[in-house]
Amino acid sequence: MKLVTCGLPYANGKLHVGHLRTYIPADVYVRFLRMMNEKVVFVCGSDCHGTPIVVNAEKEGLSPRELVEKYHEHFQKVFKKLNVVFDYFGKTIEDYHHRRTREIVEKLIENGYVYRKEIELAYCEKCERFLPDRYVEGICPYCKSPARGDECDQGCGRHLEPGEILEPRCKICGSPATFRKRNHYFFKLTAFREFLQDYLSKLAGTENAINYAKEWVENLRDWCITRDLEWGVKFPLDESLVLYVWVDAPIGYISFTEQFTKDWEDVWVKGNAEIIHFIGLDIAYHHCIFWPALLKGAGYSLPTAVVASGMVKIEGKTFSKTRGYVVWVEDEYLNARFNPDYLRYYIVNYTSHEKDLNFSWDVFKDKVNNEVIATLGNFLFRILSFAWRNFGKVEMKVDGEIIEKILQTKDKVVDAIKKWEFKVATDAIMELASYGNTYFQNAKPWELIRVDKEKAEKVVANALQIAKALLILNYPVMPESMEKIAKAIGLNLPNSSIEKVAEVDKELVVAKPELPFAKIEEKDIEPLKSAMAERFAEKPEISIEDFKKIDIRIAKILSAEKVSGSKKLIKLIVDIGNEKRQVVAGIAENHSPEDLIGKSIVIVCNLKPARIMGLESQGMILAADVNGKAVLLVPEKDVSPGTKVR
Ligand code: MSP
Ligand code: ZN
Repeated sequence: MKLVTCGLPYANGKLHVGHLRTYIPADVYVRFLRMMNEKVVFVCGSDCHGTPIVVNAEKEGLSPRELVEKYHEHFQKVFKKLNVVFDYFGKTIEDYHHRRTREIVEKLIENGYVYRKEIELAYCEKCERFLPDRYVEGICPYCKSPARGDECDQGCGRHLEPGEILEPRCKICGSPATFRKRNHYFFKLTAFREFLQDYLSKLAGTENAINYAKEWVENLRDWCITRDLEWGVKFPLDESLVLYVWVDAPIGYISFTEQFTKDWEDVWVKGNAEIIHFIGLDIAYHHCIFWPALLKGAGYSLPTAVVASGMVKIEGKTFSKTRGYVVWVEDEYLNARFNPDYLRYYIVNYTSHEKDLNFSWDVFKDKVNNEVIATLGNFLFRILSFAWRNFGKVEMKVDGEIIEKILQTKDKVVDAIKKWEFKVATDAIMELASYGNTYFQNAKPWELIRVDKEKAEKVVANALQIAKALLILNYPVMPESMEKIAKAIGLNLPNSSIEKVAEVDKELVVAKPELPFAKIEEKDIEPLKSAMAERFAEKPEISIEDFKKIDIRIAKILSAEKVSGSKKLIKLIVDIGNEKRQVVAGIAENHSPEDLIGKSIVIVCNLKPARIMGLESQGMILAADVNGKAVLLVPEKDVSPGTKVR
């Protein structure tokens, strides 16, 4: 048996394209394994603890639990639409997870791998609290970049231990923090150096992660595994502390397996299964160093492979939600009604799995149009339509040469998948589609059929066999589309085995094929490109005169109604002092019209009027952009409409 897992998404925000580089290749891999008749269990779930959850919950005005539930649902919805199908998708807030985590930590304590130590921690006098992880910001002691409490996120990328950050400030109130002594608990990572050296020499997976890990092993430090926080798994020896989120999160791999199958001990205790972790390179340290040491220390089975993708970037910039370098999967992809299979193909085929992937809508469009549609879709549709229109039923006499080509492709694909070389595998599939196109084009069955129907049928049989092989080989990559097309030849794809690619039926009955592919036009990606460009724009310095050209005023909302046919838009009539204006604003997702009436807001009055869904908008409301949702700016005190904002 094989267990495949994916890095658990933090339940503190929406899924973006970067996340998908973990989930889509893993799903493709699992589907391939199943088609190779392997028994696979595929688990994942929401990572629900840690300071980012508490901090974001405060920001969104929700309790940590509500925040977690909200994003957990979002993950499930998006995964379903993308056909990323886990056997079990759990949550680390559940009791079963807390139980398993405490059991493991108790084992570590029993085995002597946990010790107590007094350390100096950032403390905010004003908030009267210790400041764990993301509650504190300051300067990285290694590279002097601005950093968060637990990570140098903008500089050298190092993990920072509690107490290490320089010039700490409280993130809640902004005041400089002081240091105070506090007892915390440490995991003796340094005791695992030799074990890890040996383990890493045998660990399978992608070289990027393993090579880094081999360097890191030379420089181990013990890990502080407790935090001053309410939210999390209580630390067994001192219930006023919770475990650091990176202790409990990977244990989700175990607790979710446990939820799915009674045989979980075969995997996690007896070592009778392969354990394969899919992650992004950003969390390689945790998976190649910390996690195996934890498992070893508690007497559990060790992962067999760590498959780490390169990072997804946007226009060459590191992903950053706050800076706008991000593409949201639901809002910007699924809601734009692109076929989910296009994104699956793009992610696995753009570049090799270990390299960084630079997301670009133009490349996306070109790849979809030229490869998915013009090469693969064109071949499948052409041969299936031709066979349906001219034969209906085809006697399958297939040439040895064709079978040979198909088998070669299959071997290439299987070999590449086993090595997690998704690009090599999908290139081989596209190459077979090109071969099919060339074969069909050169054999000209539409001419043959007029002179020699039997000969034409042979050509069709050959091409149909190629089509069948393509449907099977490409099913793990583009499951929804391949299933739709496969109906034309009555092929049940989810239950197909890879070995069937070269299996020749006596005859094939061909029904009218459906082509689930629509070409991507410039107009489809244009709004997404400009939205992105706008977010990226490094704004130039402007003079006070430039600023004074903007007429910003306080306005009072007189009426508000939803724009019919739009989920996002609300039409407002506002009073700006000397006149009334109609403004169309994209705020309907988190505002109801009733609540808006009577509110004072801030508006730009001299923006050139725009037409939005046929309505003229004569102004722009100012709002903070929080993950794509508008949080309206309002005056501190009651001010009359028309008051100037400077
Ligand atoms: N919660 C942790 C993982 C705990 S695993 C026991 C975490 N969450 S995450 O939401 O930030 O990321 C989830 C997955 O997406 C991880 O595998 C991570 O590596 C991956 N990615 C998130 N952003 C990414 C990019 N920009 N590029 C590529 N993969 C990235 O990490
Ligand atoms: Zn640094």
